[in-house]
Amino acid sequence: MVENSRSRQIKFHFGDSVPLEMHKVRIVQKLSLPPVEDRFKAISEAGNNTFLLNNRDVFLDMLTDSGVNAMSDRQLAAMMVADDSYAGSETFCRLEKKTREIFNKKLFLPTHQGRACENILARTLVNAGSVVPMNYHFTTTKAHIVENGGTVEEVYIDEALEVDSNHPFKGNMDLEKLKNIIKINGAEKIPFIRIEAGTNLIGGQPVSLANMRGVRKLCDQYGIMIVFDASLLADNLYFIKTREKECQEMSIREITQEISNLTDIIYFSARKLGNARGGGICTNNEQVYLQMRELLPLYEGFLTYGGMSVREMEAIAVGLDETMDEDMINQGPQFIAFMVEELQKKGVPVVTPAGGLGCHIDAMRFLDHLAQTEYPAGSLAAALYLVSGIRGMERGTLSEQRDEAGNETLSNMELLRLAMPRRVFTLSQVKYAIDRIGWLYENRQLIGGLSFTEEPRVLRFFFGKLQTRSDWQLKLIDKFKNDFGDSL
Ligand code: F0G
Repeated sequence: MVENSRSRQIKFHFGDSVPLEMHKVRIVQKLSLPPVEDRFKAISEAGNNTFLLNNRDVFLDMLTDSGVNAMSDRQLAAMMVADDSYAGSETFCRLEKKTREIFNKKLFLPTHQGRACENILARTLVNAGSVVPMNYHFTTTKAHIVENGGTVEEVYIDEALEVDSNHPFKGNMDLEKLKNIIKINGAEKIPFIRIEAGTNLIGGQPVSLANMRGVRKLCDQYGIMIVFDASLLADNLYFIKTREKECQEMSIREITQEISNLTDIIYFSARKLGNARGGGICTNNEQVYLQMRELLPLYEGFLTYGGMSVREMEAIAVGLDETMDEDMINQGPQFIAFMVEELQKKGVPVVTPAGGLGCHIDAMRFLDHLAQTEYPAGSLAAALYLVSGIRGMERGTLSEQRDEAGNETLSNMELLRLAMPRRVFTLSQVKYAIDRIGWLYENRQLIGGLSFTEEPRVLRFFFGKLQTRSDWQLKLIDKFKNDFGDSL
């Protein structure tokens, strides 16, 4: 049984303990909750795609934790002393020094965000016929590998796709399968093996240090590089510390160093790791570094800013430092664990064990009367916005791409992701979300499916527009008004 990452939670004397924030809030931003009729208008105009909602129409924005985490006072202060120069700025030197200190890699390339790193890595290392094994793909990663003629092989463990599980590290790679893939394809076809921290698309599930050691051993045997996507490293570090017995006496910094030493290249989206906006690639491999460096001025900017503002670079340097503090990184996983447990008490199907990133609702079971081709996770996202003003993100078939013949690629999971931007929401806001999701679950039979009216070819979930397959949203509004009366 997974201990749900609550080991450091402060105990309460009266009743159940709740997550206790180890920070105080000194800047606030006003929110508004538009009435249900306005929400219906907004979601209809957005083509039932939560990506196309205007944030002014949203009460709790749980679309993503990307670029929207709360910054610390130290980060904001650092932004004020940024050194703004095109080439050789002091700010860049500070960031480079911090990445060297934390990741123990001497070479650093700045980029404007995570997928920019993926573009540079794929252009440098992936060719027609390349095969890239990984624990699980991320949408932008796969798109870049495929654009460069490669294919992705996912080598997750069987538990990875079990929505309801108590495996503490569902992001682990299956080492036997990995060995087979190397044997079948030949090591020369495999430019690198990618390990993603806090595996995003299966519910923010971590990978263990022990598993990474196993992958390294295999890679050494066959002379293959490991590329580590550290975008969701903060949560993963917390889970290693709290769930992996042998690591409980290690500091977060020590765990990070050991992870880094197992990898050849580390890249990250600083919109997630470091609670700012930007990205970067770290390595000790001079040859690959020089190849990648050639692409930087073409796609990003000069070597000492890579498309980022110097202010963001200062914030990343401090943010990376703060990621090494367990009190700073525990807030997200603890809030998510609370939400998952409370929803489970209401019978709502959620991904377990609670992961990082956010709370993931299993739309396949929530809406078991809908076919995957009716986009259950997309329908649930639209329905939740309608009844609560909460914006989540579809992570299911809608986020997949059709095959060349135009057939749907059915997703392994149909998830509604409710991201938990770090240090942004209060516990009462999380309780509101739990309440409305619970209500929606009781009324789930009213929710119908969606179909495309505008369907882009690549990454269709970003801009695609959809319509309801019946007037189910009007019926849902009627029931909502009946149950909630004048309440918004
Ligand atoms: N890798 C992972 C694991 C990610 O979660 C993301 C982004 C990226 C790479 C790409 O980074 O957005 O800075 O270009 N995830 C965001 C999300 C989009 O909402 O989960 P980016």
